[in-house]
Amino acid sequence: MRTDTARPVRLADYRVPDYLIDKVDLVVRLDRHETLVRARLTMRPNPKGKAGAPLLLDGDGLNGKLVGIDGTPPAQDSFRIGPDQLELFDPPRQPFTLDIETTVDPTANTQLMGLYRSGAAYCTQCEAEGFRRITYFLDRPDVLSVYSTRIEAQRSDAPILLGNGNLVETGDLADGWHYAVWNDPFPKPCYLFAMVGGDLDVLSDSFTTMSGRKVGLGIYVEHGKRDRAAYAMDSLKRSMRWDEEQFGREYDLDVFNIVAVSDFNMGAMENKGLNVFNDKYILASPDTATDTDYAGIETVVAHEYFHNWTGNRITCRDWFQLCLKEGLTVFRDHEFSADQRSRPVQRIGAVRNLRATQFPEDAGPLAHNVRPELYHEINNFYTPTVYEKGAEVIRTLKQFIGADAFRRGMDLYFERYDGTAAIVEEFIACFAEASGRDLTQFMRWYSQAGTPVLTVREKYDESAQTYTLELEQSCPPTPGQQLKLPQILPIAIGLVTPDGEASLDMPGPNEANGASAEEIARGVFELSGRARRLVFRNLAQKPVPSILRGFSAPVRLEFDWSEDALLTLLAHDSDSFNRWQAAQTSATRLMQASVAAIRGGGAPADPTRFCQALGRVIDGWKADPAFAALAINLPSELDLAREIASDVDPDAIRTARQHMRGTLGQMNLPALMAIHDALSVPAPFTPDAAGSANRSMRLMALDLIAAGDPAEGARRAKHQFETADNMTDMFGSLSILALNAPAEREAALAAFYQRFANDHLVIDKWFALQAMIPDGEALARVRGLMAHPAFSMTNPNRLRSVVGTFAMANPTQFNAADGSGHDFLAEVVLDVDRRNAQVAARLLVAFRSWKGLEAKRRAAAEAALKRIAAHNDLSADVRDIVTRSLA
Ligand code: PHE
Ligand code: ZN
Repeated sequence: MRTDTARPVRLADYRVPDYLIDKVDLVVRLDRHETLVRARLTMRPNPKGKAGAPLLLDGDGLNGKLVGIDGTPPAQDSFRIGPDQLELFDPPRQPFTLDIETTVDPTANTQLMGLYRSGAAYCTQCEAEGFRRITYFLDRPDVLSVYSTRIEAQRSDAPILLGNGNLVETGDLADGWHYAVWNDPFPKPCYLFAMVGGDLDVLSDSFTTMSGRKVGLGIYVEHGKRDRAAYAMDSLKRSMRWDEEQFGREYDLDVFNIVAVSDFNMGAMENKGLNVFNDKYILASPDTATDTDYAGIETVVAHEYFHNWTGNRITCRDWFQLCLKEGLTVFRDHEFSADQRSRPVQRIGAVRNLRATQFPEDAGPLAHNVRPELYHEINNFYTPTVYEKGAEVIRTLKQFIGADAFRRGMDLYFERYDGTAAIVEEFIACFAEASGRDLTQFMRWYSQAGTPVLTVREKYDESAQTYTLELEQSCPPTPGQQLKLPQILPIAIGLVTPDGEASLDMPGPNEANGASAEEIARGVFELSGRARRLVFRNLAQKPVPSILRGFSAPVRLEFDWSEDALLTLLAHDSDSFNRWQAAQTSATRLMQASVAAIRGGGAPADPTRFCQALGRVIDGWKADPAFAALAINLPSELDLAREIASDVDPDAIRTARQHMRGTLGQMNLPALMAIHDALSVPAPFTPDAAGSANRSMRLMALDLIAAGDPAEGARRAKHQFETADNMTDMFGSLSILALNAPAEREAALAAFYQRFANDHLVIDKWFALQAMIPDGEALARVRGLMAHPAFSMTNPNRLRSVVGTFAMANPTQFNAADGSGHDFLAEVVLDVDRRNAQVAARLLVAFRSWKGLEAKRRAAAEAALKRIAAHNDLSADVRDIVTRSLA
């Protein structure tokens, strides 16, 4: 297990390495239990480092020996070697080589970091600090080396041998062994090292780059699954083209390989020329993958591919700069998906995800900067804040300086920092230079945690025909940061009237409360101080403000909406994001009122007018089915909990939401049934925007039918389930049965299991769905699932599908008032922590909003966290999360 010695790590303590490793030559002899790794490190003192400093190479649980320095055996008293470190007391002052031998047991590696076994393959995972589990090394991202990897294996055990870079040699050895040598000419940090050996099938293809080079593409999968890699391959080729067209970035090696494995801690990994993927982000066929799965594959394949430039060619100087590669690459994959599908649908999905994952993090005890300044365990900083908020910050930058300057800044960044390990300041400086703008204040996006609040007040002066918006920003305190300074917020605004969009007529830049011509033309206004007043002229009637169009900055908007104003936006706003937002805001306000009433013993608020307004969206669904499906999808229970923020009672929230869902369904039943009928004619399956829009509308209609008329809903869901010819229709209808129709549930679940028993990705869905059922049996059901023969405590996807889903997506039962759900999670986390610290720590993050719960549940959560904290043999990962959660 990882030790806690050198911690915490602080950004302020960064020092350049005292030694550099120019070249790494590895020979890896694969064996299930005793893999031999021989490493030759070609090193030299760093001219910028401390001369004559001892050399400290990182290890993590290693078993090995130092074989030679410059080819001769080292003197016994010149070094010290232990599982976690190799120290040379007085290394040569000239360039030198080290020969190191280690043996690792891939089968016993349950952390899934370093070299491990998954299915029929040996594979590696090195980010962030896994390479030190393979050999002793300067395991830090600012040490860039050229790697050559010779892999040897018994041909029967591993006929396929893959490494980073280009294949230079293969051949046979004695006794049924064979080998392959891979050479990666691009200097890289060791976290991008990868190798794979195994018995795998491959889907091969090729791509011709913009300069006419032909690149061989391979996606390696379990035998029998090759056909299911077709969509991932198609996504890869589209990503490669898109990066050329949108950013001028071309691929740089002769081959690009992807390996899909079923045991993986995260989504996927961008190792140079050899991405390793959680197979849920590769494998898809219409009968096994939902539209959501297809979209996820497209995004993750693109994300890892885009890392080749943003992450690999330009990497991070240290792990504090993680957002430099992750936030930027998420921004790039969002843009790619928007271009491949529907931009508004993509934007709404991204914002929903940001609010569901990052906003709660930013509002709770685990809040941290997009660029943290201190960590105890870097694995715990692969967070929604670094990824999703990191991407929003790039989008905000682009809004702020404009698309042309943004592209020039990116070009400059690629040109100036190619081949280096960069920091956020260097990146931002490129945009300051390209735009001519001072971005000093912009850096606060990286150094202040918490979600800024944008408060807007309005005033209409009928006689003067002016309409005034007062904008004001603030940011709540977060752990360790009491006072916040104003940030740069680009705020897109339009004025909506029932007759259409009002043109923005405003005082010029030199007048009182003026705006620049560019602001007025773009409709994007900068708020960089605490407050700003915008005065709009020549308005014969009071408009409704459409604020933060397209979610132009990642903030919480507060405005004293009237129901009329929101319904006007829902009907007339030209910005589809804000049309969707108007429906969400209306629903949220009504449900919040209901929650308060229910807790006071009263009746829920009357949602009639709102349900009528959504009825008009339902009636007009054909104009834009994807939008209609999103608009009638009410905010989730977790969305409501987040808005309520304190003294949260998950049961009251569920009651309020179910009431509204029922009313919405009842009031629109005939229209919903007509839609469900209209969309129930068989159509060929295409996993694209148009096909998925119709399927999601069909399922949303079915869901509301089930809410409004449970018997009719169950009847239709059962029929849809029995006749479905694709997984979206099938799993969607199964979910509606499982969550709404207890009488139909068991038979449908059993039939589904029967049919897909051999398909682990589908069975993950089966497990997850049952963990979500929000009734009093939930915990017993979850325990039952964990006793199912197909359950596994060691496969991360399976564990997450049951325990993660229960903790993250079953709020009434996970937060049961008797504390049973909290106790259960604590018990599982402690158990999992002994095998896989990263996965355990991520499950524990389900407590991130515990401080907002009502008193009884809050006390139960605190007790569960304290029980974990009382253990003295926790991993660094779990120790870090539990300590910060309780602080
Ligand atoms: N770097 C990976 C990505 O976002 C994520 C990852 C981190 C995977 C750590 C494994 C381990 O693309
Ligand atoms: Zn990434």
